[in-house]
This record gives sequence, structure tokens and C-alpha cells, in this order.
Amino acid sequence: MRVAALLMAAGRGERLGATDSKQFLPLLGRPVLRHAAEALLRDGAVDVIQPVCAEAERGRVDSILAGLPARPAVAGGATRQASVHAGLEALAEEAPGLVLVHDAARPVVPAGTVAAVVAALAEAEGAIPAQPVADTLKLAEGGAIARTVPREGLHRAQTPQGFRFPLLLALHRAAPEGATDDASLLEAAGHAVRLVPGSEDNVKITYPGDLERVEAAMLPRFLPR
Ligand code: CTP
Ligand code: MG
Repeated sequence: MRVAALLMAAGRGERLGATDSKQFLPLLGRPVLRHAAEALLRDGAVDVIQPVCAEAERGRVDSILAGLPARPAVAGGATRQASVHAGLEALAEEAPGLVLVHDAARPVVPAGTVAAVVAALAEAEGAIPAQPVADTLKLAEGGAIARTVPREGLHRAQTPQGFRFPLLLALHRAAPEGATDDASLLEAAGHAVRLVPGSEDNVKITYPGDLERVEAAMLPRFLPR
């Protein structure tokens, strides 16, 4: 079955607050977006990438992805949901069997994760990598603890998230704007979404310092032994 991957890069990185959007910042000398694309392709489970970015950045994204099996970038929307929908519509004619949705701000996807998500789609309509919550959770009110929230069963959702393409396209076409992430569209419609093991390494660069921490974690792999 043909597998396409949306590479979501239409955000502005407001929490990071850099002058450039975080997906374009250099990580070990190459844009975060390029690392994310190569990570998607590493397991050999993805046939083609469909980048989604701001209209004005389409040429820049295409040149960052040069040499990779990527379609020309398409323009996203004001919300991540609108951007995913735009990417799905761009794939509608080719209609792959499966689609992955990955944040361009996640440059590190451990080997095997993409293949595991795709494999899980043999038995479920959706599959996402997720990490069990390790910390004790406190619900705060007015700066003090109101209560401890049981963390049993709680997971942090990561990407790439995988779906049967026709189902995700139909759910996005029917969805109200600004409601949900992709997996929750399936949950709300009663479809099974499987969990596959996530990783602490699969960081979504979000706040100042995240990029430096990811770079420091990656650096040893590039040093001579
Ligand atoms: N994204 C997108 N279209 C949007 C918003 C987000 O394609 N309208 C993408 C981002 O580029 C990012 C991913 O979705 O790769 C996850 O979003 P997030 O981490 O929130 O990134 P930003 O929206 O760029 O950051 P912020 O919320 O801090 O502005
Ligand atoms: Mg955002």
C-alpha cells in the first residue's frame, strides 16, 4: 500500500520566539525541517513526503528538501488542523492508502518508529507513538496544589501519527474548525487508534533552549570515537 507523509511546517514558532520559524533553524548545520524529512524516510516505509508550509516559504521548503522524494510544498492554514486538511487535499488525487502526519519541529524520530506506526495500521485505522507519563501530575489552582491526578494510563502523544488515508480525509472534510488533533478526530468518530512506543528523544522543539538541548544530545553521534 502506498504511504505518503505530510510534513507539517506552516507554524510560526511563536513560543520559541526566534526571528525565523523553528523548522528553518539550523541543527548541526542543517535545517530542523531537513532532519525531520530524513527521519521520516529512514525506515524505508514512506514513499513520498508532502510538505505543508506558509505560502511565502514554498520555494524555500522545496530547496531544503531537494534530492528527497518530496512533492512540491503546498500552503497551509491558520491552524495546524487547517494545514493538515490542506495537505490531505493536495494528496487527494493520488490517494495513497496510508498517510502519516509529522511535525517538522520534531527532527529526531528513532529508527523503527515510522515502521511500527505503519505496521500497526494493518489492524487499526490510526496509530500514534506515545510515551507513558513518568512524572507525578499535580492539578494546580491559584499557585497551590488542588490535588494529585492519577497518571495510570496517561500518555504523551508524539508524531508521526498514521492513518488510513480515505478515512482521515473524510474526517477532516467533516470536522469543525479548530477542534482537535488528528487522532482525536478518529477517537470522536469511534475508530480504533493504536499506541506504539514513543521515545524521549522525539522532542517537539517548542520553547527557547529546546534546540540547544536536542543538538547537545545529537552531537556525540557526530564526533570521532
Ligand atoms: N503547524 C502547521 N500549521 C499551523 C500551525 C502549526 O503546519 N497553522 C505545524 C508547525 O509548523 C509544527 C507543528 O505543526 O511543525 C506543531 O505545531 P507547533 O509545535 O505548535 O508549532 P508552531 O505553531 O510553529 O509553534 P507555536 O505554537 O509556538 O507558534
Ligand atoms: Mg502552534
